[in-house]
Amino acid sequence: MKFTHDAIERNVGLLFVLTLLVLCVGGLLEIVPLFFQNSTTTPVAGLKPYDAVRLTGRDIYLREGCYNCHSQMIRPFRAETERYGRYSVAGEFVYDHPFQWGSKRTGPDLARVGGRYSDEWHRAHLNNPRDLVPESNMPAFAFLAKTPADATDIEAKMRALRRVGVPYTDEDIAGAREQLAGKTELDTLIAYLQGLGVQLKDTQ
Ligand code: HEC
Repeated sequence: MKFTHDAIERNVGLLFVLTLLVLCVGGLLEIVPLFFQNSTTTPVAGLKPYDAVRLTGRDIYLREGCYNCHSQMIRPFRAETERYGRYSVAGEFVYDHPFQWGSKRTGPDLARVGGRYSDEWHRAHLNNPRDLVPESNMPAFAFLAKTPADATDIEAKMRALRRVGVPYTDEDIAGAREQLAGKTELDTLIAYLQGLGVQLKDTQ
């Protein structure tokens, strides 16, 4: 059998293997450079790894599926930047594993919600969104205020993140449990929300 285009098109197995090969090469050429580009690997000025409290709050955010209704990425369009603030850049998310960009927006984007409301506002809103926004269809998360934050695996979580490049020091990890003492899940979630996007908030 001659190795011609005709032969490839008539052999579905060969066509499949070669298509896969082309996709792999194309994919690698697009994806691999991103791991080495400054703009995607360098944290923006002032970005710090999540402390134990915010990290725990972030896990509550994932556990409760907040990402099913909220994105965390402001696109570079006027309609977005006027509503949410400066568009998001990759350097804001280098310590996010996994990032929460998303695209589903039943509720507003939260990439820069940090500092937009007071802690008390969040407390009331998460307890029952309709108390503050009558037409809201966001579920109530009242139980978070009654559940103590789980500190049992915080050190292991931080060590795991350190393995993938988050620069936690031994002191950060040693002090983690203490930081969570007496905190509820709601406290940690609010701490997480209040830190979102604040580094570039006032820049254009
Ligand atoms: C079923 C979809 C849905 C889920 C799940 C959901 N939300 Fe919402 N969220 C909304 C909607 C709709 C709004 C807009 C109305 C309002 O403010 O309540 C909103 C608003 C918000 C706001 C105010 C944003 C702003 O800029 O005004 C915050 C903060 C927020 N949600 C946090 C959360 C967190 C944290 C979770 C997970 C614990 C969560 N949401 C889960 C739908 C959802």
